[in-house]
Amino acid sequence: RTKRITAPDIMSRKGQTPLVCLTAYTTPTARIMDPHCDILLVGDSLGMVIHGLPNTIGVTMEMMILHGQAVMRGSETAFVVIDMPFGSYEASPEQAFANAVRLLKETGAQAVKLESGPTVAETIRYLTERGIAVMGHVGLRPQAVNVEGGFKAKGRTQAERDKVIKEAQDSEAAGAFAIVVEGVAADLADEVTRLVSIPTIGIGASNTCDGQVLVTDDMLGLFDWTPKFVRHYADLRTQISTAVETYAKDVRDRSFPAPQETYFAK
Ligand code: KIV
Ligand code: NA
Repeated sequence: RTKRITAPDIMSRKGQTPLVCLTAYTTPTARIMDPHCDILLVGDSLGMVIHGLPNTIGVTMEMMILHGQAVMRGSETAFVVIDMPFGSYEASPEQAFANAVRLLKETGAQAVKLESGPTVAETIRYLTERGIAVMGHVGLRPQAVNVEGGFKAKGRTQAERDKVIKEAQDSEAAGAFAIVVEGVAADLADEVTRLVSIPTIGIGASNTCDGQVLVTDDMLGLFDWTPKFVRHYADLRTQISTAVETYAKDVRDRSFPAPQETYFAK
């Protein structure tokens, strides 16, 4: 059995060849992606791209655990990170610890990720001191959608820039092994990457980050929106639509099932 990538392996990739990360939610897709990815992220984006929620606020611990279990069954070597859903970690470090333990024990994943906020460093420190590998997440924070009034890129004002830099540095000082940098101007992502000694994983950030992540359903052309930072590597929506249209026609004209797809009495 091949050995899984570890948090120290990921930390050692700072300034080296970029880390490859994608989101994963199911066993078959994890199985396909695992050989190509350093990190598989069970992102709370699953609420939107799998479950049809308008944002990630409604995502529950139970959803994260079920998808985390599915991804672990399909992955062998990638480092698997699970998002802590909204409401599962903000109240106190103790709450964060209890829920992080559940996520890791019930799935077997290697790490949790939580979005930055004023108290995030205290929480990251509390978790890492107790044996939990933590990935930070600065810049655009999807779980703050109700305060922000939408998904807004960060770093256009000096105050915002200072905040992103401080949260990144605080996350590192508190023991995070890596940080996602989401939806920020490229020069700010460059600056964060220079100022911290842990890997930065960019999404809508900059190609100087130490790695990149995309929501898999976005890059496959499966999910119905295209932010500027998404590159489409496939157009699965069209492929699925064409497949289903053809199936419907074949059923209606009785060309499916054909004899080779049918059982016959001996
Ligand atoms: O939930 C998610 O998929 C994420 C990535 C986009 C970083 O947090
Ligand atoms: Na997320």
